[in-house]
Amino acid sequence: MSVKAKILKELKENQGSYISGQDLCQRLQVSRTAVWKHIKSLREAGYEIDSVSNRGYCLVHPSGALGAEEILSELQTKWLGRSISYLEMVDSTNLEAKRIAEKGAPHGSLVVAKTQEAGRGRRGRYWESEAGTGIFMSFVLRPDIEVEYSSMITLVTALAVARGIEEVTNLEVGIKWPNDLILHGKKVCGILTELSAQMDELNYLVVGIGINANTPNFPEDVRDVATSLSMECGQKVDMAILIAKVLEKFEFYYELFLETSDLSQVMEEYNQLLVHKDQSIMMIRQNQKVEAISKGINEKGELIVIDSLKRESTIMSGEVSIRGILGYI
Ligand code: BTN
Repeated sequence: MSVKAKILKELKENQGSYISGQDLCQRLQVSRTAVWKHIKSLREAGYEIDSVSNRGYCLVHPSGALGAEEILSELQTKWLGRSISYLEMVDSTNLEAKRIAEKGAPHGSLVVAKTQEAGRGRRGRYWESEAGTGIFMSFVLRPDIEVEYSSMITLVTALAVARGIEEVTNLEVGIKWPNDLILHGKKVCGILTELSAQMDELNYLVVGIGINANTPNFPEDVRDVATSLSMECGQKVDMAILIAKVLEKFEFYYELFLETSDLSQVMEEYNQLLVHKDQSIMMIRQNQKVEAISKGINEKGELIVIDSLKRESTIMSGEVSIRGILGYI
């Protein structure tokens, strides 16, 4: 963690009270001039920091801005997001993560952007990424697993994001299989996992997460199907805290996944959050629609369904998309 992020962490932990310059120097093993320089740069970034001689520095108001330091000062992961590339603007964080992965970026490297000019959704769709309104991030994974197992990581991600959101906002988020996050019947987050493989060998995976965190409103054409955390909880969400929590949760569930190379240890929790569990759904394959009952996922992340003749089968993600009987949910 950079010295600036460490100073920010100390100030945040003591928000509202004073911490002396000398304490900061000793704790962080840096000079007084270095502390002063970083305080100055934090102030320039919008942090309101009071300083009183003989008492020290006090964080009066956080900036609300998002940057690598803000995320690092909240982060408690072992390996995920320990290297952060924060960009004001990028085509797509997934594309940037792929570019850095090609150049050898290590497992867990994170890319976060304030805005994306060509945010990518699933099935070639566009992901709206207006500056400062949402979380647009992607990370690089280099797991030692078979290529065919990688789709399960998308489900692990959905569970991690749901739990992260829940912990930070107290909002109960559901999962629409395989990986849309649903709040009060509308989509609040999308996940796009992409991989690079040669023959049967996985080079790396890029997990892209888009969370409608503080989106104030949506265009009319998506208003019925999209929502944001701030719209649902009535206040702005601290995006640095949310990113840090989501990454922490991901690390936890991902490590459970690696222990067995399947979802046996997270399946039950995932199924508890599944919005259509034991309900009728419409399965859409090309232009064909078939009604079935969703019974939740198995340990491979496939959705178990029962058709109108009471026959049980499983569907794989990517093979079909599902909808509620009356619409998106
Ligand atoms: C979906 O269609 O539901 C998936 C949307 C994924 C959007 C995120 S935003 C961060 C990352 N970068 C991208 O270009 N896409 C993903």
